[in-house]
Amino acid sequence: MSESLQQLAGLRDQAVAAINRASDASSLEAARVRYLGRKSQITAILRGIAALPPPQRGPVGKVANQTRRELEQLLGERERDLAAAELEAEIAAGAVDVTLPGTPPAPVGHLHLLTRTRREIEDVFIGLGYRVLEGPEIEHDFYNFTALNHPPNHPARMLQDTFYIDPASLAAAVTLYDSEGAPLPDSSAAGDRDVLLRTHTSPMQVRGMEAQRPPLFMIVPGAVYRRDSDATHTPMFHQIEGLAVAPGISLADLKGTLLAFARAIFGADRELRIRPHYFPFTEPSVEVDVSCFACSGGGGLAGGDRCSLCKGTGWLEILGAGMVDPNVFGFVAAAGYDPAEVQGFAFGMGIERIAMLKHGVPDLRLFYDNDVRFLEQF
Ligand code: PHE
Repeated sequence: MSESLQQLAGLRDQAVAAINRASDASSLEAARVRYLGRKSQITAILRGIAALPPPQRGPVGKVANQTRRELEQLLGERERDLAAAELEAEIAAGAVDVTLPGTPPAPVGHLHLLTRTRREIEDVFIGLGYRVLEGPEIEHDFYNFTALNHPPNHPARMLQDTFYIDPASLAAAVTLYDSEGAPLPDSSAAGDRDVLLRTHTSPMQVRGMEAQRPPLFMIVPGAVYRRDSDATHTPMFHQIEGLAVAPGISLADLKGTLLAFARAIFGADRELRIRPHYFPFTEPSVEVDVSCFACSGGGGLAGGDRCSLCKGTGWLEILGAGMVDPNVFGFVAAAGYDPAEVQGFAFGMGIERIAMLKHGVPDLRLFYDNDVRFLEQF
């Protein structure tokens, strides 16, 4: 083998080693200058070919060119690898770990007291085998009143005045009903009082029964609306409705169910009291009180003062309830509700009221002011 060929083989090996060793762009450039630059030995060999004996010129020229091309390719590959590695290192160094706490750590929020109270109440009834349903806040007069045994012009409607929706503002796909429950051809046929913001969650009693044959055990949390505004009334507030329908359900079942609820929420020693009341859609109707947990039902405090929570009565009113009026079943007869076969109880409670009693919140409006000094206390 000629001296030049031997030299080329040695240069190639050195160059390959130098290229592989280069750990950054500048050492790679130094290797390129050293082995392929104008002053490099390979360039000198290529230039000196003409001076070689003629039989050596071909083989030396061929190997020198091959070596140069091979090294150029290797340089290109190494350059790309190094650039990719550098980019990766840059990204890794600058990366933000979004799972780390901030400095200083940002305070983590928590559920609003009303959400927490709603969930606590739901948990109690889920434990008793109830399903949780939700329903529309924009409701038909028919479901809000008529099907709950408030016929049109019934005076009990006045107790729950509300806000009315212009039927023309609703999507054309919404089927509207008149106050007797008859479907209307389009919104122009609806009266200006046929669509409203529901005043209670009770319309879901009817919708729930329409959707499921008995037996039915359901609760319905949700927002309701009334034209009221003072320390104990806001135009929007929240209720949880309950409805249980099955053969042989009695007022005793209502009392036992609500006792279990009251003890889960207000403490194991609570007692219940039911008083006669009136709702158009239950018969008989009752209001339910729980024994005061601040004074253990005695009405007085240890120092002899009157208990301020129950105002000395020993009882706290928590909800309205009753046995489902057979007239209400009449509106859902097609779904299998025959008052000769099934009976039911219903109840409705204000979530705000439960939270206020349990946590001593003095003003309903505090729930909606979004003042963190209030919200952070719970
Ligand atoms: N809907 C009634 C109200 O808002 C409460 C209620 C519900 C009473 C179910 C009886 C049965 O005042």
